[in-house]
Amino acid sequence: MIKIGKTNLGSFPLLLAPMEGVTDPSFRAICKEHGADMVYTEFVSVEGLIRNVKKSQKKISIFPHERPVGIQIYGANLESMLKAAKVVEAAQPEVLDINYGCPVSKVVNKMCGAGILQDVDRMVSLTRAVVEATSLPVTVKTRLGWNAETIRIGEVVERLQEVGIQAITIHARTRKQMYKGEADWDWFLRIKENPNITIPVFGNGDINSPEKAQAYRAQYRVDGMMIGRAAIGRPWIFSQIKHYMATGELLPEPGMEERIKIIHQHLNHSLEWKGDKVGILEMRRHYTNYFKSIPHFKPFRLRLLTEMNPQIVREILDEIGYTFARTYEQIN
Ligand SMILES: Cc1cc2nc3c(=O)[nH]c(=O)nc-3n(C[C@H](O)[C@H](O)[C@H](O)COP(=O)(O)O)c2cc1C
Repeated sequence: MIKIGKTNLGSFPLLLAPMEGVTDPSFRAICKEHGADMVYTEFVSVEGLIRNVKKSQKKISIFPHERPVGIQIYGANLESMLKAAKVVEAAQPEVLDINYGCPVSKVVNKMCGAGILQDVDRMVSLTRAVVEATSLPVTVKTRLGWNAETIRIGEVVERLQEVGIQAITIHARTRKQMYKGEADWDWFLRIKENPNITIPVFGNGDINSPEKAQAYRAQYRVDGMMIGRAAIGRPWIFSQIKHYMATGELLPEPGMEERIKIIHQHLNHSLEWKGDKVGILEMRRHYTNYFKSIPHFKPFRLRLLTEMNPQIVREILDEIGYTFARTYEQIN
């Protein structure tokens, strides 16, 4: 059984990866309803949090129905990290997660995200300070290393465990790789071979099907998995993986009717979260993901992206449901 703090995550947790612009409260709730054992906010700047920037504050609002949830922060300045940890504590997530994995230049140039992989001592001391400053369980999400030549992930896990983190997720790529090439999961075997490492180690990178999840679980001995891109427009992947792991049977992709039901539910969460106007606007970013592979969808998309009345949006969704019911089965 995997436990972080007081939170029981089951025997092999499947976590929804933090994703900027994707993992808002409504999407997190939908993933939770479809099998995710824990969900994460997108990364939030500690500088924004402590300056009370509205956009950052918004990113840490949590709903009871999405718990357990981790709030992920990123930053480089010790004092800001500690102050932000207090702000996060007030929001009462199950976990405070530190981002040491973001590869984007404007983040790493400030020694935030994966930037800190160039200075493991600093990574360890910053983490120690955050652990000491908060009563929340602290976890870390990182990458294998800065580049292939300087990977020290085994040492990183051991030292971060020593300073008190309660779990680690590793995206099995280096910063230099960004999102290119295959994630190199062999590193998990090496990490798990080390008897000193007792915290849960979650594997991340390129899990996109029940079969791959099951094969990687058997092969790489991770304690759970985090899934990002494969859940975009396909939040049911968590329950598909769970079902496959439990029974060996593959569930079919949901048909159009089922899909429309899920999108209605997602819209409900969005309206509940933000009210009619902003709820409608926030939901727009998700339609393209849900309806990605449908041919000749553009006129419907345009209507979804311009309509402000929730009732009419619902009618458009239903119209899409019956217009494309068969088309969808053909491309499935
Ligand atoms: C659109 C997008 C936004 C992301 N934002 C974050 C983020 O805010 N914090 C983070 O730790 N990782 C972020 N990531 C990385 C993912 O959490 C994950 O590590 C990566 O996508 C690899 O997993 P996957 O192959 O399952 O997608 C993001 C990835 C994508 C595609």
